[in-house]
Order: sequence, then C-alpha cells, then structure tokens
Amino acid sequence: MTKTALLKIEDKEYPLPIMVGTEGEKAVDTRTLRATSGHVAYDQGYGNTGSCASQITYLDGDNGILRHRGYPIDQLAHHSDYVETAYLVIYGELPNATQRKEFGLLLRKNAAVETQMQKILEGFPTNASPMAMLSAMVSALPAYYPQLATNNFEKDLKGFDQAAAIAISKIRTIVAMIYRYQHGLPYIFPKQELPFCENFLHMMFSEPYQDYMAVPEVAKALNLVLLLHADHEQNCSTSTVRMVGSSASNLFTSISAGICALAGPLHGGANVAVMHMLQSIHDEGDDGSRFIAAAKSGSKSNRLMGFGHAVYRNFDPRARIIGDACDTVLKRLGIDDPLLRIAKHLEEAALRDDYFVSRKLYPNVDFYSGIIMRAIGIPMNMFTTLFAIGRTPGYIANWREVAADPKGRIYRPRQVYFGPPKRDYVPMARRG
Ligand code: CMC
Repeated sequence: MTKTALLKIEDKEYPLPIMVGTEGEKAVDTRTLRATSGHVAYDQGYGNTGSCASQITYLDGDNGILRHRGYPIDQLAHHSDYVETAYLVIYGELPNATQRKEFGLLLRKNAAVETQMQKILEGFPTNASPMAMLSAMVSALPAYYPQLATNNFEKDLKGFDQAAAIAISKIRTIVAMIYRYQHGLPYIFPKQELPFCENFLHMMFSEPYQDYMAVPEVAKALNLVLLLHADHEQNCSTSTVRMVGSSASNLFTSISAGICALAGPLHGGANVAVMHMLQSIHDEGDDGSRFIAAAKSGSKSNRLMGFGHAVYRNFDPRARIIGDACDTVLKRLGIDDPLLRIAKHLEEAALRDDYFVSRKLYPNVDFYSGIIMRAIGIPMNMFTTLFAIGRTPGYIANWREVAADPKGRIYRPRQVYFGPPKRDYVPMARRG
C-alpha cells in the first residue's frame, strides 16, 4: 500500500504520496501541491529535491556509497575499465564479450573528427579556455550528423547507439585536438588498433614520425581517472543535460550544455583550482595554513578547493580510490611530486581542524585527480576536459532516460518572486 504524508496548511490537510526507491530512499511527491493548495515546494538550488526517478546511479552521501547500476564504485575501479563502465552506465548491464567487442568497434569507427570541424577549432584564440572550445565543438556536432540529431525524441532514439559512440569517441578526439592546436602541433589521427585510453594518449603525445607508446601504468591510471568520473547522479552538469534534453534537444546539444556547467570551478573546474592552490603553496614555501585560514572565513571565493561536496557528508569514495592510486601510480612512474606531499599535509591539517570536521568537509575526487593527470603529462588547463570525457557516459545515460520517458515533461521549475510589486510605467521625463 502506498504511504501518504499529510501536509497541514492552516486548517486544511493535503495528502502527498510517499515514494520509496530501491535502496529505501524516501521522497514526498509534491507534484500536486500547487494544484491542490496553491503552494510550490521551495528548495533553493534543488538541494533536497528529487528532480527525476533514475535507474543509473545510486549515491548515499551520508555513508559514502556510490554504485552504478548496482555495482559498487570500488569494484568497478578494481575490475573494470572506462569503456566497460561506460557501457554499463549507458545500457544498464555489464557487456558480454560480443557486446563489448561491438561497442569497442563502434567507438573506433567514430573516433575521427571531420576535417571541416578543425576550422571551428582554429577560429578560437590559442589561449582560449579548452572547456569553451570543447562545448563549442560538441554543439557543432548536430550540424555534421543531422540524421542523428533531429530534436525529436523518437527519431533521436533510433540513432542512439551511434550518437552515443560519436559523443564518447569524438569528445576524446576533440580534447586531444584542442591540446595540439593550443601547442601549435599538428593533429594526430586516431589509430583503429589502439584501445580507448592508449588512443587518446597517442593523439595527445605522438609526433608525426614518432609514435607515443603509453606504458601500461599510464594507460591504467587514465582509465581509472575516467572511470571514476563516469557518472555521479544529479550533479550540476548532469542535471543541466537532463534539463536541456527535456526540451527535446538532441544528445550533442544537451551534452554541450553540460560541458558548460562542468567548467565552473565549484564543479569540474575544481581539479584545476586544486592544482593552482597546491602550486602556490609550493611556490611560497607555505605549509598550507594560509589557505586553511582563508577557507574558514566563509567567503565562497576562498574555499579550500577539492574539499567538501554537495552530497557526501562522510567521505567521497572516489577520493579514497584516487588518493590511494596516486601513491602507486607515482611510484611506478618514478615520480616524486612535491604537490602530492603538500596535498597530503593539507588533508591531514584540514581533517584536524574543527571548521572542516564540524561541517563534514572531506577531500573530494578533484583533490587528488589532478596529481595523477599531471603525472600522465596532461597540462593543467586541460584537466577539466578529461573530467568531461569521463562524465560523457553519465550525460548520455541521463539524456536517454529523459528522451525515452513516455510521461516525461519539459523541466520547468517554479520560483518565489521577491521583486517589486506591480507598479505603473514612468515616462523618461519623470524619472529621477
Ligand atoms: N572550503 C571551505 N568551506 C567550505 C567548503 C570548502 N571547500 N565547502 C563548503 N564549505 C562550507 C560552506 O561555506 C558552509 O559553511 P557555513 O555552514 O558556515 O555556511 C558549509 O561548509 C557547508 O557547505 P555545503 O552546504 O556543504 O556546501 P555546498 O553544498 O554549498 O557546496 C561544494 C558544495 C562542492 C560546491 C563546496 O563544498 C565547494 O565549493 N568545494 C570546493 C570546490 C570543489 O572542490 N568542488 C568539486 C566538487 S566534487 C566534483 C564535482 O562533482 O563537481
């Protein structure tokens, strides 16, 4: 039997159905509230609003749990790789051998970027933000694949498999092209025979007559970084993808909007901000106490980057995995990065400090991911574009849920208006 919550406003009671998710998550369904009582549910920033019912990712922020399609993130990190996890996130099941092969083939077939698209990239100043370039390139994809991007749910879902492969594979290629363009290097074409991550490293670092051969540790580390970012429930950029997708915008346009949201320093851009912070601690010979003191001021612009999370109130399981991997990867590559020592020291200091402890602020995935990317040879300004490659399966899976929902509505939140009350127009001559 469906349980009901009773909301009492003045003398009248309004029954509201209770929803219970697979893992016992409880929600009060307030959809009828406005029609029955004239009230909207106010929740600035949607911090306590279930904006959708989803089958992709389960996240329990209080207990540091993250699962994709039921599989715990630590098991995926240990046993899976990025492409397999991408398939899982998008299609709901781990692929069997044939499905894995076919998916890999589709990714390989769709790796190259049309020559004409190079001109779009080259219209940007070389020092433009890589995230701005990436979102522009992705928003141009519908022009090259109009048959897959019709802004019609039914038609777009027919071409979904190919559109998904284009998004995953070409976003990776575009990121490598951005790097080459910014460094005045010739573009390197993808190689059919290389696995996904090795192919990316080849497109980034090969020279015309000298192929870059990724050592297994580097390819593995990249796989881990991308896998750990594959999806993360209703974060800012994924919700943006869903919102844009809900207007029947095609997959590429919706992902492009997600990339714009991801660029912000409070979201995907945090991995760059963390490295700037660690670097300046290093350059100044500081022990990090200045950053910790500034972060405690409460000012948004002085936050300790890589710390805190909108939903994790215990620990970010991805941060634990990536923090442990940092040591292993750097050791295997023979790198002694002073920024890793600073990061560890900063983490210890913050976790002894009552400000961070009482607010349940712990390192998040971005606190250590930059150190691994730096060890791989990725320049700092490209870090967030790697987050975008990693997150693309999550964007795709969420877009698909929106597009495939027969009862789905366009996303259209309400607001509570606090502006001036009605007033009459004042002619220019009478204005002060
Ligand atoms: N440094 C200092 N104070 C902080 C921080 C921080 N990094 N994060 C939160 N706080 C404070 C915040 O000011 C508030 O203080 P008070 O109660 O005195 O007003 C309190 O802690 C609770 O904040 P919150 O409600 O947990 O924070 P939020 O949900 O508004 O923001 C966040 C979440 C991730 C934007 C924020 O923690 C932050 O800005 N962190 C730094 C940026 C960062 O690392 N972002 C990457 C997030 S993980 C990757 C991703 O998915 O995007």
